[in-house]
Amino acid sequence: MAKLALMGGEKTVTRPLGKRWPIWDEREEQAALDVVRSGVWWRGGCADPQQSKVVQFEDAWARFHDAEHCVAVTNGTQAIGCALKAAGVEAGDEVLVPALTFVASATAIALVNGVPVFVDVDQNTYNIDPDAMEAAISDKTRAAVIVHNGGYPCDMDRIAEIARRRGIAIVEDCAHAHGSQWKGKGVGALAGGLGTFSFQAGKALTCGEGGAIVTNDQELAEKAYSFHHIGRISGRPFYEFHRVASNLRMTEWQGGILLTQLARLEEQTATRERNAAYLAAGLREIEGVDPIDRDPRVTRWGFYYWNFHYRQEQFGGVPRDRFLQAVNAEGAPIGVGAHGQPIYQNPLFINMNFGRTGCPVKCPLYGKEVDYRKVHCPTAERLHATQALCIGHPAFLGETTEDMDLILAAIRKVRANVGELTR
Ligand SMILES: Cc1ncc(COP(=O)(O)O)c(C=O)c1O
Repeated sequence: MAKLALMGGEKTVTRPLGKRWPIWDEREEQAALDVVRSGVWWRGGCADPQQSKVVQFEDAWARFHDAEHCVAVTNGTQAIGCALKAAGVEAGDEVLVPALTFVASATAIALVNGVPVFVDVDQNTYNIDPDAMEAAISDKTRAAVIVHNGGYPCDMDRIAEIARRRGIAIVEDCAHAHGSQWKGKGVGALAGGLGTFSFQAGKALTCGEGGAIVTNDQELAEKAYSFHHIGRISGRPFYEFHRVASNLRMTEWQGGILLTQLARLEEQTATRERNAAYLAAGLREIEGVDPIDRDPRVTRWGFYYWNFHYRQEQFGGVPRDRFLQAVNAEGAPIGVGAHGQPIYQNPLFINMNFGRTGCPVKCPLYGKEVDYRKVHCPTAERLHATQALCIGHPAFLGETTEDMDLILAAIRKVRANVGELTR
């Protein structure tokens, strides 16, 4: 039996897997050059708005996600805030958010003076648990930011039904879910609300920094446009302002690069899905690691990282983090899944660090007591501590399944040496 790399044996994976991210060639170089030479560096600089790279990207991105409208913005955090403002969230409103996500899903709520309320997650998908979400709705709840964690779509049938029946707005945080589909339709505009994207450097569609909001609702689209454009209203005089709002406009450089990157996304998503399906089949053959049990309504899974499960009790009792040490020593690029610790465990929330006045959580308009130190989402805490694993999307970009075989070989080797890890 081969000796574990952790114990001084040979590594299983001795080269980088997949592709180096981001991927570019002369098309991106030309896109950047075209913008430089055009002298039009912002979306408002074209006599014909359709000539703007940002406007062209908005049209293409809306189409790609089966939405009617898109507003491109500076980043994914601002996209969530802008969407929440368009949905009518104001001081004193509660907004539900899953415990497992990136912290920006919650800070974006506080940034618009909403009060984040943490909701537990589902143990198969790592997404917000629809039952827990419904149970958390109070007379103060205005909206929910639901996150397609790792790009795996939430149960949008249940979420849309709860939102309709209970009268709350849904913002789908699709920062991980470029190209993901639920029952054949792109995520983002599936619940009558708005969806937000991040195009930050590591994301499956990127221009370094950037974001977007999609919706099928014309009124919400007009509000989002206004909130991203210092409160202007399209069709009205340029120096007339209607709302307290910031400048969240995307630059033409970003628009140009996103258009070229988008031309690659369909094929890259197919490659990732092909490799992920192969890996999932291989994992099913190894006791103690499982892929997400995929819902047939998830018709496309575009991912930023691919979540899967570790089962300590089926893996000789080896704790998840010890397993990770061993597979990482073998060279397999596996990490803690679902974006890490429950976000309420961050110092921001533990220290109730909301500044001198304590707003928004101590806002008199809210009038309720919040103490984030008392928040416990038991499933999220357990999944984070013992179960969640993930692999980043660039590892899935190989032309053949060879890289997946290497990951599987590393896991199998650790599995075969499980006794070494419990000693
Ligand atoms: C779930 C989620 N929401 C929002 C964001 C924020 O996006 P950005 O970094 O573009 O502001 C991220 C970034 O990683 C994220 O993972």
